[in-house]
Amino acid sequence: MKKLQNREEELFQEVLKGKLPEHVAIIMDGNGRWAQKRGLPRLAGHRAGIISLKKVVACAQELGIKVITLYAFSTENWKRPRREVDFLMRLPGEYLQKELGSLIEKNIIIKIMGDLNGVPEFTQKAIKQAVEATQQNTGMVLNFAFNYGGRTEIVNTVKRIAKDVFEGRLRWNEITEKVFANYLDTGFLPDPDLLIRPSGELRISNFLLWQLAYTELWFTKVMWPDFNKMYFLKAIKDYQKRERRFGGI
Ligand code: FPP
Repeated sequence: MKKLQNREEELFQEVLKGKLPEHVAIIMDGNGRWAQKRGLPRLAGHRAGIISLKKVVACAQELGIKVITLYAFSTENWKRPRREVDFLMRLPGEYLQKELGSLIEKNIIIKIMGDLNGVPEFTQKAIKQAVEATQQNTGMVLNFAFNYGGRTEIVNTVKRIAKDVFEGRLRWNEITEKVFANYLDTGFLPDPDLLIRPSGELRISNFLLWQLAYTELWFTKVMWPDFNKMYFLKAIKDYQKRERRFGGI
């Protein structure tokens, strides 16, 4: 145990010396398989996933990372059994009820992206309350993608732009990549530098389709409930070895 802590601390210090990603996005995958492997209900996997989430948020903050975006519920997740969907809808409230005080204290700003209108009122209420309670903060942004899908986001962006053009606030020939990006749900954020996906799946799964254009991808077979500070640091260490050319040479 002590050895592990020493290694973790060493890696932490090494990572601090390199260039940190400003924005890290995470697909928190593998909760169901983690639980099933242990003979537990899938819901136990989601609950365990919250513990990993807390570890990652704490480590990111310690490092001084500016933004963490977490894929918490996708527009495709509605296809799951009713009981699981209900549970996932209750998780934000449960998490925020316990953690909001400490998130405020840690100067964290909670943001949300996705279609909140499509989720139950009690979920909306918990999320909106957290967003409001932290909007004056100035520290790390903790951005939850909830009822979010990348294609829907792009379609909604096109609608917002079309409306502004139609109503005379924007000229069609003024639409550039930068203008388009500002109309996205992440208009207030830089693009992710690093995407982490646990669970062994090698896909993007409709997450941040526009924003991931030049993001470094990091995959691990570890299931999200087993993900911890050490894996997070390893992902960043690998990121620091990559040469980002953004299409140049
Ligand atoms: C994917 O694993 C995970 C999810 C659909 C939900 C992730 C949510 C959390 C970890 C908690 C979110 C917390 C807050 C505060 C919003 P999976 O169920 O697809 O796993 P599997 O691929 O093994 O079945």
